[in-house]
Amino acid sequence: MSEVKLLGTGASVPEKIVTNHDLARLVETSDEWIRTRTGICRRHIVTGESLTSMSVDAAKKALDASGLSPLNLDMIIVATLTPDEPLPNASSAVQKALGAVNAFCFDLSAACSGFVYALGCGAMYIKGGAAKHVLVIGAEILSKIVNWEDRTTCILFGDGAGAAVLGPSEEPGFLGMSMGTDGSRGHTLKMFERDIDNPFMTDAQRAAANMEADADGNLRPKSRYVYMDGSEVFKFAVKKVPESIQQVLKEQQVTVEDVDHFVLHQANYRIIESVAKRLKASMDKFIITIDEYGNTSAASVPLALDELMHSGKVKKGELIMISGFGGGLTWGSILMRIV
Ligand code: UT7
Repeated sequence: MSEVKLLGTGASVPEKIVTNHDLARLVETSDEWIRTRTGICRRHIVTGESLTSMSVDAAKKALDASGLSPLNLDMIIVATLTPDEPLPNASSAVQKALGAVNAFCFDLSAACSGFVYALGCGAMYIKGGAAKHVLVIGAEILSKIVNWEDRTTCILFGDGAGAAVLGPSEEPGFLGMSMGTDGSRGHTLKMFERDIDNPFMTDAQRAAANMEADADGNLRPKSRYVYMDGSEVFKFAVKKVPESIQQVLKEQQVTVEDVDHFVLHQANYRIIESVAKRLKASMDKFIITIDEYGNTSAASVPLALDELMHSGKVKKGELIMISGFGGGLTWGSILMRIV
């Protein structure tokens, strides 16, 4: 059994910045509403980039920071719900662009918890001896699944990619994790993709597969855009995230005070504030990137982690708690030590 450590991180966001004022010209909203309700000031939205190009850019930076070449990689995981194409998967496209010919690759789908799950997965492959150097990417182009006429969702999301490289270590850098899922509440964050439609179906079967009842009981096509019951997801997050963090802390026999930095999924500044309050932790320990990037789903934790690693605030021996939550509903926390 090998120990595991974080070797390096990287990030990449689209060039185009969309401000709250820009959105106020599209839908009935205001900079003031968005800032005070979410903490978001702007987000980066693709105009020429692809999920693969952002992922490769972030991966190259993470490899540079790790002192590794793409040939050193033996595993690539991309966490995303918005791959450029379902086939080939995003991780194979990244492998091709990097020339990482020794790596086997797969995508992981767990919405905003995706990167945390992928990081845990990569670490377990290394611990188990099935891989040595693992590239983990969280990347999204949420702008393609957002209804730009729906003010309740379009103001929240952004695009981007973040990457981390894990490798073997003498000292333990990956201390523990806790993951959970509540599928019974999946309807609070959802999106339908393509109709099930083949020549062997009756119209009734087609309708059953592809239509749903609205609030008044009328049938309508399932939404191709992200739907979110914001307040339900909010309540879920402020309860589950502290619980999951506390569970990891308990298992590792450390306290909230021992944690030097918290890297949480950036969905809403108020959620992060509430988690800090419930944990009785100082907000100074929480990295905040939501103002700049909005909610980038699977990309949000690695973007925030990269910002922390480049902030000059992280010292050897320090503890970092990483926590993600979102669609599924899913949640997960990982405790790492910088070694
Ligand atoms: O990453 C996945 C996980 N996602 C999350 O964790 C998101 C969690 N949820 C949230 O962050 C918040 O629930 C939102 C930011 C989505 C919404 O904030 P809220 O404080 O829960 O607002 P609300 O949905 O209760 O809406 C309050 C009011 C409503 O008007 P009425 O009914 O009070 O008249 C909305 O129609 O604000 C209205 N509203 C807006 N007004 C201006 C909703 N969106 C907007 C908008 N601009 N963009």
